[in-house]
Amino acid sequence: MRILVTGGAGFIGSALVRYLVTDVGAEVLTVDKLTYAGNLNSLRAVESASNHRFLQADICDAAAMNEAFESFRPDRVMHLAAESHVDRSITGAADFIETNVIGTFTLLEAARRYWSALPSEQKDAFRFLHVSTDEVYGSLGDDGLFEEVTPYDPSSPYSASKAASDHLATAWQRTYGLPVVISNCSNNYGPYHFPEKLIPLIILNALDRKPLPIYGTGANVRDWLYVDDHAKALHLIASRGRVGEKYNVGGRNERRNVDVVKRICQILDQLRPDGTPHEQLIQYVTDRPGHDARYAIDATKLETELDWRAEENFDTGIEKTVQWYLENEWWWRPLRDGVYSGQRLGTLETTDED
Ligand SMILES: NC(=O)c1ccc[n+]([C@@H]2O[C@H](COP(=O)([O-])OP(=O)(O)OC[C@H]3O[C@@H](n4cnc5c(N)ncnc54)[C@H](O)[C@@H]3O)[C@@H](O)[C@H]2O)c1
Repeated sequence: MRILVTGGAGFIGSALVRYLVTDVGAEVLTVDKLTYAGNLNSLRAVESASNHRFLQADICDAAAMNEAFESFRPDRVMHLAAESHVDRSITGAADFIETNVIGTFTLLEAARRYWSALPSEQKDAFRFLHVSTDEVYGSLGDDGLFEEVTPYDPSSPYSASKAASDHLATAWQRTYGLPVVISNCSNNYGPYHFPEKLIPLIILNALDRKPLPIYGTGANVRDWLYVDDHAKALHLIASRGRVGEKYNVGGRNERRNVDVVKRICQILDQLRPDGTPHEQLIQYVTDRPGHDARYAIDATKLETELDWRAEENFDTGIEKTVQWYLENEWWWRPLRDGVYSGQRLGTLETTDED
């Protein structure tokens, strides 16, 4: 099995590549532009594996994508490359439209060109898995869950760009017959998570005894999914998911942001006690504009049709995650000292520096 993975140097992509190369034994080509969020250190575990190679390329570059398809000749594409941080999309939407919309279009076209010329047996077996987010569905009230049939209602430039890319992927299946499957997953967490996202930011700020920022009152609810559970779900969906279908992926682990932060503080109080409880570092800050109140996934289709279950619950997953950051300063310290040191992103307030 030859799998082309885009965005494989990112958080979820690297978990997927490590899983495909080490556990599944697939031949993998990782295609990644290496933006600020891409990191070859996340692929260190597979760097000398004979069944993995890496190509630094932009998915918006049609010639590079055509060349990647022609030379690698994949049986399957798993498309994860994206601009992924909501806060950055608020102050800089252009990169999100470029990569998430134009990039997905470019990749779909390269895949279609290559797939059209395949012999019929390989053509039938070919799959293009488009990896998306539950944020395309907008925000839930206190009750209810996102299902595959929930109408799209994105709030942020990020989720709007992902929604656009989902529609393109669906259209390429319906119009051209490209064998596309789509997955929409909830918030991931786990090792190798770039420190701008809530969970690693809180862990690393707490270790540095810096303020722990919580947007608004911290009542926003997210449905947390351990990244290795997601990687396994993606492989399953790409292998056995039905063409033209969508699959929601979620761990049935809803938590309020404030409770996530407090849990991390409690774990650090045990693992790295330093006299004062880490909770004292919590600071409530101005909310994110357009902040969705609640996301929660109904994963029944994935569970019943493909027999998938999350192996980690939030309590086991968050302990593993905190432990990983404590043991892997080599990975995160250069990021904290370099590309991102924990400053607030995505605020619309102007400052003296603007
Ligand atoms: N993180 C989550 O909780 C979450 C939840 C649901 C869905 N998703 C989706 O999963 C996918 C992966 O998310 P992630 O959290 O790993 O993101 P990430 O930001 O950690 O990684 C994205 C990767 O894509 C690469 N990339 C960006 N622009 C590119 C371009 N133009 N060409 C080639 N490579 C490019 C980056 O270098 C990086 O390695 C995304 O499509 C995202 O929308 C993420």
